[in-house]
Amino acid sequence: MSECKTYYLTTPINYVNDVPHIGHAYTTIIADTIARYARLKGIDTFFLTGTDEHGQKIEEAAKKRGKSSQEYADEISSKFKALWDEFEISYDKFIRTTDEYHKKGVQKAFLQMYKKGDIYKDYYEGHYCVSCESFVAPSQLVNDELCPDCGKPTRIIKEESYFFRLSKYQEKILKWLKEKKPILPEAKANEVIRFVEEGLKDLSITRTSFEWGVKLPKEINDPKHVVYVWLDALFNYLTALGYGSEDESLIKKYWPAKLHIVGKDILKFHAVYWPAFLMSIGYELPKVIAAHGWWTRDGEKMSKSKGNVINPKEVANAYGLENFRYFMLREVPFGADGDFSEKALIDRINNDLGNDLGNLLNRIIGMAYKYFDGKITSKNIEKYFANELNSAREIVKSLEKTYLWKMQIHKFLEELWKVLSIGNKAIDTYKPWELMKNNEEEKAAALIGLIANLLAIVAVNLHAIMPKTTQKIALALGFEINSESFSKIMQDFLLEDFVIQKIPPLFPKIEAPLMKKVEIKEEKPINLITIDEFFKTELKIGKVIEAEEVKKSKKLLRLEVDLGEGKTRQIIAGIKEFYKPEELVNTYVCVVANLKPAKLMGMMSEGMLLGAKDKNGFSLIRPEKEVEIGTPIK
Ligand code: MSP
Repeated sequence: MSECKTYYLTTPINYVNDVPHIGHAYTTIIADTIARYARLKGIDTFFLTGTDEHGQKIEEAAKKRGKSSQEYADEISSKFKALWDEFEISYDKFIRTTDEYHKKGVQKAFLQMYKKGDIYKDYYEGHYCVSCESFVAPSQLVNDELCPDCGKPTRIIKEESYFFRLSKYQEKILKWLKEKKPILPEAKANEVIRFVEEGLKDLSITRTSFEWGVKLPKEINDPKHVVYVWLDALFNYLTALGYGSEDESLIKKYWPAKLHIVGKDILKFHAVYWPAFLMSIGYELPKVIAAHGWWTRDGEKMSKSKGNVINPKEVANAYGLENFRYFMLREVPFGADGDFSEKALIDRINNDLGNDLGNLLNRIIGMAYKYFDGKITSKNIEKYFANELNSAREIVKSLEKTYLWKMQIHKFLEELWKVLSIGNKAIDTYKPWELMKNNEEEKAAALIGLIANLLAIVAVNLHAIMPKTTQKIALALGFEINSESFSKIMQDFLLEDFVIQKIPPLFPKIEAPLMKKVEIKEEKPINLITIDEFFKTELKIGKVIEAEEVKKSKKLLRLEVDLGEGKTRQIIAGIKEFYKPEELVNTYVCVVANLKPAKLMGMMSEGMLLGAKDKNGFSLIRPEKEVEIGTPIK
């Protein structure tokens, strides 16, 4: 990877049904780190991020808020963009799937696959999870009904659909997965390989049950259908470079993507569907698909209803953006799930950053001034400390290839900290104050020079994760971090003589948690019932024959309701504030017909009307068309 001329990398595009949280920030910060590292190496880099804005989930979320889908998508998409701007994420392009050029690109791909014979029309019937925008195979359902990924109930959908011949690509995908090994961490590849080996079914790639999506190309002339949100979304990686437009120069320059970063939940879409689509339109496949794990909070899954979702802005405001970046990348092995706790974050800041890095810098600043008027020299390091310097160089050699490009960023940092530890140990072992006492000034100066150089190695390598902090370290050490200084330091050149600049401590000790405590609400379990339990309630269509106010009651009306039983029933209903008696006569209502009769203000009530109450008032539930009286409701 380090040899390549261009480097195109992407994050997943985030759904706009939710505001940004720590999970989104994690993916994006990893990508930003890799992009910054590649640029520092002088590689021509293109970093893409954006928002995924179509689909039923978003249509429904917008409706719930009384907004149009577009208005709602605009609002949330801009929140993502604003956060990435505030976090100084160094993206080159922010794509939105509602952008016209993207929609055109999706239509072009669809048509190309259709013309090739990879798309055909049929019917689909299956369990669909709206939340994940995905059909679930019967064998994967939990309790025959729930989605295995999010635990929510699926819906059975039967609809006309266009299908993509995924099965046709099964063998080619397997070969690619096995030969090219594009998935990182490699352990995750086995799951995907097993999934493909179990057999790939053709994929339903259009929907007719909602409208918020990319329309089929006009050449196909089937306006009922919109493109399945995953096909739409995955193509963002190509449309962002101009696929579907006149100008394909960016595609020529940057495709294939060197890296798609994804969460483990969406690996299948990227490692199976996406390559199949690309094979169908004749494009090269991405080089690496790296799947990270999930974040929990204090050991618990984050969810809106528990109120324990972490707002990345809040963490960054409390602890500093760069410290937060360091923590996320250091704390969790790439691919594993991680837990966010303030204690762990504080420990990382106080120990790794404060003690190991910050103190080392402060110590040499102090000693350089005390003994040498702030002057540093790299002369004589090899003479006195060749072992230390060589051990550090050994570590540096494997940093990139073994760790960084393999997404083992936590290991990359662990290794880098070994360089700091060489420095800290050298001070403890050789004690510059004693060297000075013993008139070994030359050796003391070389020791301080060694440490300055070790810190320079750490600073340039840490730069992609903590850009501003490391620039301050470099300033103290008399250089600026850029592609030249990076390559010079990485090629074993030592810093030139310079005068150290004093800077304030970079990582003041954190004594107590700085974020507001969250109270974790217990998630309300969905109280699931069986269909038999549901049918214990007899619901029927009735017609109101008579209606009058109950005197002395503010709330009650007395109704005579015909349920087709030969005689009417008396129902006392608490709807006086919402309906006048004369409005009700001769109208249809839905009645719970097997409630035990109860007395209300001395009158027997032999049933209950169904209705819905919200802040705007009360509405009776009524059949949409005329229905025979007494018809059961099922
Ligand atoms: N829209 C799709 C991606 C389409 S890419 C062509 C999607 N969006 S998402 O908003 O639901 O998720 C975006 C990313 O955030 C995913 O990689 C997902 O894994 C990640 N995370 C969401 N919650 C997460 C955690 N709690 N922890 C870590 N990452 C998680 O999927």
